[in-house]
Amino acid sequence: MPVATEKRKARSGTFIDNLKLPVHRWFRYSAGFSAEWVKSVIEENRATSIFDPFVGSGTTLLAGDSCSIPSEGIESHVFVKRIADAKLSWDFDRKRFADFVSDFLARVENLNDVEDRSDDKLLGKIYDRETLSILERFRLSYLDCELPKEAKEAKLIWLGITSILRPCSHAGTAQWQYVLPNKKKNSSKSPFDAFNAYCDQVVADSFQVLTEGWHKNSSVSLHDARETIVTNREYDLLVTSPPYPNNYDYADATRLEMTFWKEVEGWKDLQSVVRKNLLRSCSQHSAAERLDLNSLLKEDLLSPVIDEIRPVCETLAEVRMTKGGKKTYHTMVAAYFSDLAKIFSNLRPIMAQGSKVCFVIGDSAPYGVHVPADRWLGELAVAAGFKGYSFEKLRDRNIKWDNRVHKVPLHEGNLWIEG
Ligand SMILES: C[S@@+](CC[C@H](N)C(=O)[O-])C[C@H]1O[C@@H](n2cnc3c(N)ncnc32)[C@H](O)[C@@H]1O
Repeated sequence: MPVATEKRKARSGTFIDNLKLPVHRWFRYSAGFSAEWVKSVIEENRATSIFDPFVGSGTTLLAGDSCSIPSEGIESHVFVKRIADAKLSWDFDRKRFADFVSDFLARVENLNDVEDRSDDKLLGKIYDRETLSILERFRLSYLDCELPKEAKEAKLIWLGITSILRPCSHAGTAQWQYVLPNKKKNSSKSPFDAFNAYCDQVVADSFQVLTEGWHKNSSVSLHDARETIVTNREYDLLVTSPPYPNNYDYADATRLEMTFWKEVEGWKDLQSVVRKNLLRSCSQHSAAERLDLNSLLKEDLLSPVIDEIRPVCETLAEVRMTKGGKKTYHTMVAAYFSDLAKIFSNLRPIMAQGSKVCFVIGDSAPYGVHVPADRWLGELAVAAGFKGYSFEKLRDRNIKWDNRVHKVPLHEGNLWIEG
């Protein structure tokens, strides 16, 4: 394999390279994967259309635009879907954008008396009073101004405000998922500088993608992949990365941004506003739903892997009783694979015969009990009517479970499924 292809593959699971790429860099989504790698998969497979059931920040769909093929996807996290939708607005009108931005900034300048949010438990800890007051002026100016909020240019202003929230905090916001209020960054940005730099980048990128020959033919819908999926066509390629069964809480991951926009009041709202619509990949979710292991294990959907999954879940049920946190990994694991079994059967009818499906996936070891995600997912895909699967390991990895001292070797790679 050529060295460049090898390198691209090895970095397929990381978003970091996207920070050099036009449009992709408008929002840093650490759960994302590499756009260059998706592009190479499109090219190698001579794909004519591409689908993504877990859109995230839109990497696969934008790679489709960069290769001028139609793309479509779904995302069930209401806030993350909006981020993807804003990035897919890359074919905006530059003159209109400039007008909107100057109206918006004039409003920010003229707005004085705003609510002091420094007593907010999260925001008050991660911003100084002045920065928070400027950001609040940004928020109110955006909400109050007469921009049609469904216009591409308005969505990009919203994305700009959203994308500067972390760089403008002096606290440890870089470690994605958890905000670390007591950790201090070396430097933070001023909201005006950061917003202006974002706008310049958006305009510069819109020229760059034209010279690169991008063609806009992508769309994202707010939809839960566990529900029947209706698409505009049959697809010949699917490239995606689902949440892994590793307790990463996608709802908590946008708590800062959603708190800022007043879409959640705190941690307690995350389950009802966000998490309930997501794949059950974290124990907060399985605990909130008070799931019963025996009922889950009786589900037909799990029958293709029941002989393996039952002992794993039962061991987890026992191990948890020896742990202080008593985390519900036993029901999380069963619910996770039940959800994905459902999703594979929803995907089968929208993928053409002979199509190719790639899931970037990693295994996990909650409480030190190994969960062989790639193999079980392959088996569930075959049970849903796909023709076969193979796993291409790309790297070894270890997850920092907050409560473990285990040495189970873990890996991550591409699960290739034949359509
Ligand atoms: C690993 S991220 C995908 C990142 C994406 N590849 C990118 O580059 O931005 C997985 C995404 O799946 C979404 N998700 C979780 N459960 C879902 C469901 N049931 N239906 C649709 N999307 C879901 C999460 O909100 C998250 O954004």
